[in-house]
Amino acid sequence: MRVFVTGASGWIGSAVTAELIATGHQVIGLARSDASAAAITAAGGEVQRGDITDLDSLRAGARGVDGIVHTAFIHDFSAHEDAAAVDFAAVNLFGDLLEGSGRPLVIASGILGAVSLETDRPDPAMSWSPRAATEATLLGFSERGIRSSAVRLAPTVHGDGDHGFMAALIGIDRTKGSSGYVGDGTITWPAVHRLDAAHLFCLALENAPAGSVLHAVDDEAVPLRDVAEVIGRHLDVPVVSVAPEDAVDHFGWLGRMLGIDSHASSTITREQLGWRPTHPGLIADLELGHYFRVA
Ligand SMILES: NC(=O)c1ccc[n+]([C@@H]2O[C@H](COP(=O)([O-])OP(=O)(O)OC[C@H]3O[C@@H](n4cnc5c(N)ncnc54)[C@H](OP(=O)(O)O)[C@@H]3O)[C@@H](O)[C@H]2O)c1
Repeated sequence: MRVFVTGASGWIGSAVTAELIATGHQVIGLARSDASAAAITAAGGEVQRGDITDLDSLRAGARGVDGIVHTAFIHDFSAHEDAAAVDFAAVNLFGDLLEGSGRPLVIASGILGAVSLETDRPDPAMSWSPRAATEATLLGFSERGIRSSAVRLAPTVHGDGDHGFMAALIGIDRTKGSSGYVGDGTITWPAVHRLDAAHLFCLALENAPAGSVLHAVDDEAVPLRDVAEVIGRHLDVPVVSVAPEDAVDHFGWLGRMLGIDSHASSTITREQLGWRPTHPGLIADLELGHYFRVA
């Protein structure tokens, strides 16, 4: 397939791009900078220069393709609503472009606190994240002749090179001189390795039925106290409980998220697409030590 990939130079999108190319697909990657363009070219992809805020560049990238994988997102938690609005507009454009074609559109979505099963449909009005509305719209594209699917990523997608929540938590713990968890530490998060998540995007592109929700979840519920204990050992700092009311003060922007209890299953995804995670789980991955290398 000829596939337009947004976020092709990103952490997860670059792994999706690498696997698509390795399995014989052609990738046109959206690049907003010379560095991103160079990374996509080096991976063997073609480059569409542009920006997810520039709908004309998305139209150009999607012209004549057999499918779209959308992983780009503006990660600015101080303007999350604006970023979600940009995402919503991009996904709606892709819907208009693919209408009636039967072609696949796969987007990155999330799980944190909102859902446990693939069949759960959070009410966008009740969700903490404005991205829930984008997922709901995407799933409706199945009625418009589009093989749409949403890959709900576990809140921690982990692996070497991670610059997401786990890396941020370790950075905060390093600065604080302690490894913290919220409350009694029984709050859990699902987790998945980056390469297993990337494989699921590829399976979704090739085979997911229209209107599918897929869970990129390997560990269903990792207690955040267990995470804190591994981090504490590797950083050689004490492991401490942080009261829920002090979480934002202690962890900053991450405090709100560390207080959200979340668990999720991927049984339906595994049955539907034959997806089998093969890479280390979160605790084993933390134990490997790459998160604790100092640059
Ligand atoms: N990593 C996680 O733990 C996690 C968990 C849940 C959900 N997700 C979701 O999974 C998706 C991929 O995440 P990731 O970890 O791979 O993120 P990432 O490494 O930050 O990659 C984001 C990608 O989006 C691109 N991008 C950002 N702003 C753009 C803009 N204005 N125009 C064009 N491209 C733009 C970036 O381009 P550059 O390469 O040029 O910077 C990059 O390629 C996102 O939707 C994210 O929210 C991730």
